[in-house]
Amino acid sequence: MFARTASASLRQTPQFISRRTKVSLPKLDWDFAALEPYVSGKINELHYTKHHQTYVNGFNTAVDQLSELTTCLDKDPSPAVARKIISVQQNLKFHGGGYTNHCLFWKNLAPTSQGGGEPPTGALGDQIKEQFGGLEKLQKWTNATLAGVQGSGWAFIVKNLDNGGKIEVVQTYNQDTVTGNLIPLVAIDAWEHAYYLQYQNRKAEYFNAIWNVINWKEASKRFDAA
Ligand SMILES: [Fe+2]
Repeated sequence: MFARTASASLRQTPQFISRRTKVSLPKLDWDFAALEPYVSGKINELHYTKHHQTYVNGFNTAVDQLSELTTCLDKDPSPAVARKIISVQQNLKFHGGGYTNHCLFWKNLAPTSQGGGEPPTGALGDQIKEQFGGLEKLQKWTNATLAGVQGSGWAFIVKNLDNGGKIEVVQTYNQDTVTGNLIPLVAIDAWEHAYYLQYQNRKAEYFNAIWNVINWKEASKRFDAA
């Protein structure tokens, strides 16, 4: 009974909700330098404190704007307000994607001392073996997908619930993320800010190196949970 009352109360105060639910940077499980030599500490520091922080801030701002406009719509249900709501969508998508993609990314990386690079076991390991014969073929597909990103984007190893839970590799541009029945298992950032300081134009080297610090235990958890 209490839960129902509280829930109803929260639904009636959207601005209160937006202030209470600001997103923030996730806590990292390792130090910035812990992924060296594969990803430099300086890259991780800038990537986390500057780039990811920008998406966090941008998403919170866009959510606040949406909240205010939703309140406006209650008072003035008009095309003019509807257009303002639509204008917020791009920032919601871009910064919301940037916020969530990087949260996935940090968590699916781990130093070698914490199991980074150790091949997946359990149900995920079995599924990879059944579909690809082994991890190497999946990595090749992912690297080819990453290499195909023209400009900025991401590659995701996903569990596709629309395809019987099969593992697939999906590429997106900018900060677009995967949603719905595509369950992200591993997210790999192909933006220049993720590698340029260390690898310059040799992005294929970064794509090869990152497998040494992929946290397959985290990927397995995501696979099992979906
Ligand atoms: Fe990034």
